[in-house]
Amino acid sequence: MEKLNSNLEKKIAVFISGRGSNLNSLIKHSKLKKSKYRIKLVISNKAHAKGLNYARRNKIKNYIIEKKLISFEKDALKLISKFKIDIICLAGFMRILTPNFIKKAKIPIINIHPSLLPKLKGLNTHERAIAGKHDYSGCTVHYVNEKLDSGKIILQKKIKILKSDTVEILSKKILKLEHKAYSEALSKII
Ligand code: GRF
Repeated sequence: MEKLNSNLEKKIAVFISGRGSNLNSLIKHSKLKKSKYRIKLVISNKAHAKGLNYARRNKIKNYIIEKKLISFEKDALKLISKFKIDIICLAGFMRILTPNFIKKAKIPIINIHPSLLPKLKGLNTHERAIAGKHDYSGCTVHYVNEKLDSGKIILQKKIKILKSDTVEILSKKILKLEHKAYSEALSKII
């Protein structure tokens, strides 16, 4: 059933490349009465991304664009405009968008990253947090700019790294935090 305030809700596009657990949590939160956004579009750059199933199950328009970056961006921009998207959320999207895309999209693009930025930009954050004997780790939701994992921070969630934490345990704990953080960050900026 459509919510009464559906025309006031911000229209969100989520870009994914894989598992899609953050997409799933965004979809769940978007269904709550208090939600100020709705997931209108999912784009995957991988045909076999498991996360596409969350879009299909929830009848959200979804597109696979398995192309080189420039062509990917061209197609994605057309969809963003067709669906009148207000905000793009990157959720496990494994490409680095070009400055041209960021400029042409003309809407906020945000990302979730599994570390306390500016610490541990890039990949394998949990391995590096444990190997570097960091006391804390967590996740960050931030605006996307032309530099990797460097845009303005919207929200962070932090946990203490325990001596008993393995990479697997820590990544599970932080993923749980991510699922809260993404929708909270959206509510904060809408
Ligand atoms: C998450 O840890 C996210 O922070 C990172 O990639 C992972 C994606 O997981 N950018 P999922 O596809 O949302 O399950």
